[in-house]
Amino acid sequence: MASKSLFVFFLPLVLSPFFSGCAEAQGGLRVGYYSQTCPKAEAIINAEMRKIIKYAPSLGGPLLRLHFHDCFVRGCDASVLLNSANGQAAEKDGIPNQSLGGYGVIDVVKVKLEKACPGVVSCADILALVARDVVALSKGPYWQVPTGRRDGTVSIASEAFQLPRPTDGISQLIQNFAGKGLSVQDLVVLSGAHTIGVSHCSSFSSRIYGSDPSIDPKYAATLRMKCKPKDLTTLVQMDPGSVTTFDTGYYKQVSGNRGLLNSDAALLQNPQTKAYVLRQSTGSASQFFKDFGDSMVKMGNIGVLTGAAGQIRKKCFAVN
Ligand code: HEM
Repeated sequence: MASKSLFVFFLPLVLSPFFSGCAEAQGGLRVGYYSQTCPKAEAIINAEMRKIIKYAPSLGGPLLRLHFHDCFVRGCDASVLLNSANGQAAEKDGIPNQSLGGYGVIDVVKVKLEKACPGVVSCADILALVARDVVALSKGPYWQVPTGRRDGTVSIASEAFQLPRPTDGISQLIQNFAGKGLSVQDLVVLSGAHTIGVSHCSSFSSRIYGSDPSIDPKYAATLRMKCKPKDLTTLVQMDPGSVTTFDTGYYKQVSGNRGLLNSDAALLQNPQTKAYVLRQSTGSASQFFKDFGDSMVKMGNIGVLTGAAGQIRKKCFAVN
């Protein structure tokens, strides 16, 4: 009897490596997914990003943002990279995506990867690895990126409206992130991405030409000098003065009522997000850096296609 119950107790332990191996084979993401099939994949991407960030550091912002806009619509399946085709407008032509950039860089990286290992590395994984590398090369954190995503075949412009809007308030933001399986903590941490990059005036003009009491009046006056009403072209730094450096400057801005977007300022309207903003606005960046890597891995898991789902595109802008 005793030996039978011992057997029942130990059997799952004995078999667990087998089952976890199966789980992987069934398509979970894992760090080092390409170590056998394309061992140089991550090094190829990293070498390319080093060149890009050295000569065009301002591309870090658009390249990080691409991964976010990919993951929030149909999951991280590179649907944001597909061109409109056969009369069907794709995500990238949806209004919320019209200020995206960096597509050409992804195409260059893909050509290099196809040369090294044809048909192996997905565009969705390229976006996740590129996002990590541009953050690290902008003096931000480095984290391990689980890979093994496959690429989707569908991209619909109107679905881009699922993205959070810059005019959103805190409850809309929390609800939107929750819908993607992301927490309040992920929201306040990932918003810290706005420590790099720029925004068009149109994304925040209602704040500076309305009567928004939540914005530092001096900051609003400076922004009105830069952005005339209806200005569609001027770009404004989101974390002024350190726009290519990934640091905690964003939280200093937000805590001083100088968050650029309404969605940034809104982080002061919830006790949990406010406490995080205030904590990160003083002291070292180490907690934010760790949190950012953790939340990026979570974001990178949204709705991924694995196993036999989807495909590995030959070109990131078109289905095979
Ligand atoms: C919380 C909800 C968010 C909203 C409402 C939002 C909205 C925006 C808007 C409106 C812009 C400026 C676009 C323009 O006018 O050109 C922007 C820029 C940017 N966003 Fe977000 N964002 C959010 C979260 C995120 C997240 C989670 C990331 C990445 C993890 C991210 C990364 C960026 C980056 C890097 C830029 C600068 C892009 C550039 O330099 O071209 N954002 N965001």
